[in-house]
Amino acid sequence: MIENLGVLIEEAFARLEGKIHRTPLDYSATFSKIVNGNVFLKLENMQKTGSFKVRGALFKIMRNLDQAKEKGVVAASSGNHAQGVAYSSQMMGIDATIVMPEPTPPFKVNATRSYGAKVLLYGSVYDDAYNKALEISGETGAMLVHPFNDLEIIAGQGTIGMEILKQLPDVNEVVVPIGGGGLISGIGAALKLKNRNIKVVGVEPESAPKYKTSKERGEIVRIDPKPSLADGVITKSVGNLTFDIMNEVVDDVVTVDEDSIARAIYLLMERTKLVVEGAGALPLAALLNGAVGKAGRNTVLVLSGGNIDLTTLYRIILRGLSADGRIVEISLMLKDSPGELKKVLDIIYKFRGNIIEIRHDRFGLKIPPGFAKADLVVELPNKECEEQIRSELRALGFIAL
Ligand SMILES: Cc1ncc(COP(=O)(O)O)c(C=O)c1O
Repeated sequence: MIENLGVLIEEAFARLEGKIHRTPLDYSATFSKIVNGNVFLKLENMQKTGSFKVRGALFKIMRNLDQAKEKGVVAASSGNHAQGVAYSSQMMGIDATIVMPEPTPPFKVNATRSYGAKVLLYGSVYDDAYNKALEISGETGAMLVHPFNDLEIIAGQGTIGMEILKQLPDVNEVVVPIGGGGLISGIGAALKLKNRNIKVVGVEPESAPKYKTSKERGEIVRIDPKPSLADGVITKSVGNLTFDIMNEVVDDVVTVDEDSIARAIYLLMERTKLVVEGAGALPLAALLNGAVGKAGRNTVLVLSGGNIDLTTLYRIILRGLSADGRIVEISLMLKDSPGELKKVLDIIYKFRGNIIEIRHDRFGLKIPPGFAKADLVVELPNKECEEQIRSELRALGFIAL
């Protein structure tokens, strides 16, 4: 099966030339140190529309241009696929209707509309939107662009594999997020056709282990996914085409928990200045857990997308800074007399702490008479400062809560 796919991937590579970005493959000194090998990042977060999805969508439309021009295209998606299809349609001068579930965040709806697509909000989950897209396709003849279970889509995503081979001919291991399985099927086929020894590893969030469960049972299993930071890969099952291809090209599949996903997003931002969404950070989360990457080997992490909303990003930054001891919460009881709070602030100042939030309560019902309570959130230059500040506060008789 993958031989035929190989021909299609080569065609996609030629046809997409000049229309999308050949994204960089960047060496990361920071992540290389963790595994004592060479780690490279394939930056699909820098792809047009902010994710790899445009590759498959554009190739699908280019290959079926007459039908698409005459009847338009229709797709269902709550995220990156929507933008990929909308962008590709605009580029090729084609009418696109994207059905999105009603709870889709406005920033994703607006991004899709900004590429000229008609957006129809329908149903409460992806399956409802997909059934509506099928109905529209049946009624109008519009070409349905499936997000993953389609050989042309898979071939488009596979062009990433060809790029990696050109950018790093002696690659040993490639780590890829799995949603419905289109991305890893395409990349895996491109790599294995060139060199069977390149290890292909898939990563899923613990909250949606569709392929892992299906692989273990030897048949496609529908799961009930839980919410995840990696919302881009939350599907109920893989496709029948992608299941067969993955069984041929994927050597291993691992899962990662939500904390490691958050940590990976944070580290990518802090160390490499890259904004990567949860799904795109899955490969790094697996590396941080020691599940992928080997000493002395060349490992590529496919950072598949960067479309993350700013409130989520803000929460992750705060959580990461707090885990690193760079933002700390300090609660104290102090004597209710002038100058006491100043003593606390002087100690924080001495260690170059910068106060983010402060609450000084003298009248709370649970506060004993003669005392006041102070709650502070403080930004610190490094982790060690927290203990030094707490120890000086103790020495002056302040009671930590
Ligand atoms: C950022 C990102 N990464 C990975 C995937 C998984 O791709 P696939 O569904 O082809 O496995 C998706 C799917 O939408 C995605 O948006």
